[in-house]
Amino acid sequence: MWYGMPLWKILNSPKTSISNPNLFLLAHISPTYFAPLSDLHKQHHSHIHPFQSLTTILSYPIMGSQSNGSSAKPFKFLIYGKTGWIGGLLGNLCQSQGIQYSYGSGRLELRDTLLADINAINPTHVFNAAGVTGRPNVDWCESHKVETIRANVVGTLTLADVCREKGLILINYATGCIFEYDSNHPLGSGKGFKEEDCPNFVGSFYSKTKAMVEELLKNYENVCTLRVRMPISSDLTNPRNFITKITRYEKVVDIPNSMTVLDELLPISIEMAKRNLTGIYNFTNPGCISHNQILEMYREYINPNFTWKNFNLEEQAKVIVAPRSNNELDTTKLKTEFPELLSIKDSLIKYVFEPNRKTPVAA
Ligand SMILES: NC(=O)c1ccc[n+]([C@@H]2O[C@H](COP(=O)([O-])OP(=O)(O)OC[C@H]3O[C@@H](n4cnc5c(N)ncnc54)[C@H](OP(=O)(O)O)[C@@H]3O)[C@@H](O)[C@H]2O)c1
Repeated sequence: MWYGMPLWKILNSPKTSISNPNLFLLAHISPTYFAPLSDLHKQHHSHIHPFQSLTTILSYPIMGSQSNGSSAKPFKFLIYGKTGWIGGLLGNLCQSQGIQYSYGSGRLELRDTLLADINAINPTHVFNAAGVTGRPNVDWCESHKVETIRANVVGTLTLADVCREKGLILINYATGCIFEYDSNHPLGSGKGFKEEDCPNFVGSFYSKTKAMVEELLKNYENVCTLRVRMPISSDLTNPRNFITKITRYEKVVDIPNSMTVLDELLPISIEMAKRNLTGIYNFTNPGCISHNQILEMYREYINPNFTWKNFNLEEQAKVIVAPRSNNELDTTKLKTEFPELLSIKDSLIKYVFEPNRKTPVAA
């Protein structure tokens, strides 16, 4: 299929894929090498990216490819967010999987510091788990708008731009809290927002700026945007964990939502980097689950005496500054790439509740 095709067309084909950079370069000297290319495409997952110029390809022939070519460059990840929750977990995962990684020491909004990191580390992929999320919660962003813009807008865009300049894919942990149930996606309908849907939730400054950035990042072909929501991990002592949060609140609302079980999905994000995937992905487990359903599971697996009180959205509004997003995301795209992905309920049982079980297993 590649016979006679000009170089720019091959480079702009989203599925152009080979395993050996030398073969690829030869392909542009001798058309006879185009035939093996199409065969290789079927066999391997290493992609040449449409955003890469030939110059970039010459200097970064295959980004992180570890196919059967012995000359392939081993994966080396540069991670931003060393002191953060997701960034910390990512480093642990790389460690346990034997993947070389380094944390970036630059600040996202300071371009020169990012370039210095990349030049020193020479990564194959960059992961962005940095940004401001607000302490104790996102309400902080309402009173720190410039700081929020600096890290989450200027910073994220600067990192994406630097990575593009360097021919690097950026895996960006973004948020799915940019949607709210509406008449086309009513609560309980099972009809989730898709990757191409326009954000419709601007109730909080945090979400508003995240939606703006996502829109701008669509222009960066080197970025993989992962829409994380209400992250949950197996560490039930972590105050950032959605389960820990709702078990400690005095009162909770009860609304079904899409959520991300990090123990299952962070390894998938590493695999997405290895496959050189780009574009937007709803990065949650399929389906949704309500606060009460999670608390019922908590009572069943962790503490049979656990009780809680509910309140409604009007009452909740009195104890928070900015409204919160509630929605279901459509995970068809992610599930197609990773068919083994578990539903939110099954993932919670497998990765969170069974490993933490404190109650006896029913006979
Ligand atoms: N946790 C959630 O509920 C949630 C939900 C959906 C999406 N996300 C997204 O996932 C990403 C990571 O979340 P997280 O919960 O792991 O965040 P986190 O625990 O608050 O950590 C944020 C990290 O970002 C770093 N950081 C902040 N501003 C920076 C800057 N200007 N330059 C470089 N580093 C900077 C912080 O380092 P310093 O301490 O050095 O500033 C920290 O390491 C965020 O973008 C967040 O929006 C989180």
